[in-house]
Amino acid sequence: MNPSRHFALIPAAGIGARMGAACPKQYLSLAGKPMLMHVLDTFAESPLIEHTFVVVSADDGYIRDALASASLPDKRVTVLFNGGETRHQSVLNGLHAMREQAKDEDWILVHDAARPGLTGELIERLVSALHDDEIGGLLALPVVDTLKRGDAEGRAERTVAREALWAAQTPQMFRYALLRRALEQAAAVTDEASAVEALGLRPRLIEGSPRNFKVTLPHDVALAELHLKGNS
Ligand code: C5P
Repeated sequence: MNPSRHFALIPAAGIGARMGAACPKQYLSLAGKPMLMHVLDTFAESPLIEHTFVVVSADDGYIRDALASASLPDKRVTVLFNGGETRHQSVLNGLHAMREQAKDEDWILVHDAARPGLTGELIERLVSALHDDEIGGLLALPVVDTLKRGDAEGRAERTVAREALWAAQTPQMFRYALLRRALEQAAAVTDEASAVEALGLRPRLIEGSPRNFKVTLPHDVALAELHLKGNS
C-alpha cells in the first residue's frame, strides 16, 4: 500500500481589511520578501510536503510577480485563482480544484498565508504527531493569560476559566476526504478543526509556537519581522 502523502493548501484570497494596507496583507514585504513567499518557501523546502496549492482571488494582481521574484522551484507550487467570499469557501474551492492530485487518504495541511513564522520544524512536529491518527489535528497554544468576557461597554463581565483552553493556529491537518466532507457540511467556520468537530470528532491539539502567530494588525508586522530576521 502507498503511504499517504502530504499536501499544503494555503488560503490567500483575503484582503486583510484590519491591516489597512495598500495591498492585501499577504503581499506586504517582511524581512525582504512578501509574507506569502515566506510560507511558500517553508513548505517548498520541507521534504515532507509533496506539493503546495495556493488559493488566490480570481483577480489577484500580485501573485505572478511575487512568484517570479522568488527562488522557489516552480513545480512545487500550483496557484489556483478560485478564492471565495470567506476563508471557509476559499479552502473548499482549493480542495475541489486539487481533486485530481489528492487521494481521499492523503493528508492536507491547511495553513494561513498570514502566518509567516511557520518553520520546517513545526511542520515536522505536526506531521510526525499525527501520522497514524484517525482524525487529524492542528497546531495550537495553551492559553496563558487570564481571560475576561467583556460587555458592550468594554467592562469585564466575568472571568473565563483558562484551564484546558488552547488558541488555534495553523497548519490544520486532516485527510482529504474527511476535510472536504466536514467543510461541505459545516455552516460558516473560521478554521478546519471547527468543521471536523461539528461531525462529532475530536482533532488532536499539538503544541505550536508563539512565532507562528497570525499577522493581523499593523503593529504585528514589526514583530513578525523580528522573528523572521532572528529566525527564533
Ligand atoms: O483575514 P484572516 O487573517 O482571518 O484570513 C486568514 C487566511 O484566510 C489568510 O491567509 C487569508 O488570505 C485567507 N482568506 C481567504 N479567502 C477569504 C478570506 C481570507 O483565502 N475570502
